[in-house]
Amino acid sequence: MRDRAESRQGKQGLIIAIDGPAGVGKSTVARLLALRLGYLYLDTGALYRAIAWKVRDAGLSPDDRASIAALLPETTLRMACGPEQAHVLLDGRDITGELRTPAVTALASMVSAIPAVREWLLPVQRQIGAEGCVVAEGRDIGTKVFPEADMKFFLEADPEIRATRRHRELVAAGHAVQLDETKRDLTGRDERDRSRTVAPLMPAPDAERIDTSSMPAEMVVEHMMAVITAKL
Ligand code: DC
Repeated sequence: MRDRAESRQGKQGLIIAIDGPAGVGKSTVARLLALRLGYLYLDTGALYRAIAWKVRDAGLSPDDRASIAALLPETTLRMACGPEQAHVLLDGRDITGELRTPAVTALASMVSAIPAVREWLLPVQRQIGAEGCVVAEGRDIGTKVFPEADMKFFLEADPEIRATRRHRELVAAGHAVQLDETKRDLTGRDERDRSRTVAPLMPAPDAERIDTSSMPAEMVVEHMMAVITAKL
């Protein structure tokens, strides 16, 4: 298809929102879809992870909401997005490689429940997606970040399958974790993401829901392409 530079010229391109819980295959699918369309891939979880990284670096407790909120005005967060990998620049430093550790993952889930953090990240995300031609992936893209998105997908999958997928990814990345531990972490994160008061994880009423339990990523992308083509 068109390359992104071409897509981004002229008419405003589409905004495609993909939401869903951890381990459901969002990142893989969003990246593949962005590649197919020549669109930008926006991994919003990486932005929450970056704030978690800073909170950890500053030695703050995730319960110390006032101190975390006070960090934000003096923070600069930029994403150098591409269809395959996004580099996250926090206060001028590329921290991309440090965002997917179990410690940052757990902290990101807690930090993302803080209203001041969500509010601060809202314009950051909207600015990246402002020109359209973007596949944005997260928890509240279709409900809050881009409620006007042209296409919304909500991915779901059996929790056991999600935990197994996530465990496989962690082991492949060199983390020595047990499957049971991964399951517990995932359940805890799910619970926090769904029950927080601000922008909880939930499908937008106009989202197309896809159960990925027995679908490989390529099949999910094919299905999405069919939905997108039918809607255009
Ligand atoms: O998608 P991820 O696992 O990289 O996200 C990390 C955390 O950030 C996750 O626990 C939920 C939170 N998050 C969020 O609250 N809203 C988003 N749009 C994206 C992520």
